[in-house]
Amino acid sequence: MLLRGATSVQGVDGTVHDVRRPVVALCRCDKSSRLPFCDGTHKVIPRR
Ligand code: FES
Repeated sequence: MLLRGATSVQGVDGTVHDVRRPVVALCRCDKSSRLPFCDGTHKVIPRR
């Protein structure tokens, strides 16, 4: 999921992450090593 124009993102643990890019990708598969951001891991997860 792409998020445009955000200045911060809050993770499920309540941690607030500053956003310095105009567009960031958020993880929706919950497998990223950089949660809440997507690190591309979803590409190697088998589909159900
Ligand atoms: S959506 Fe989870 S790693 Fe990309």
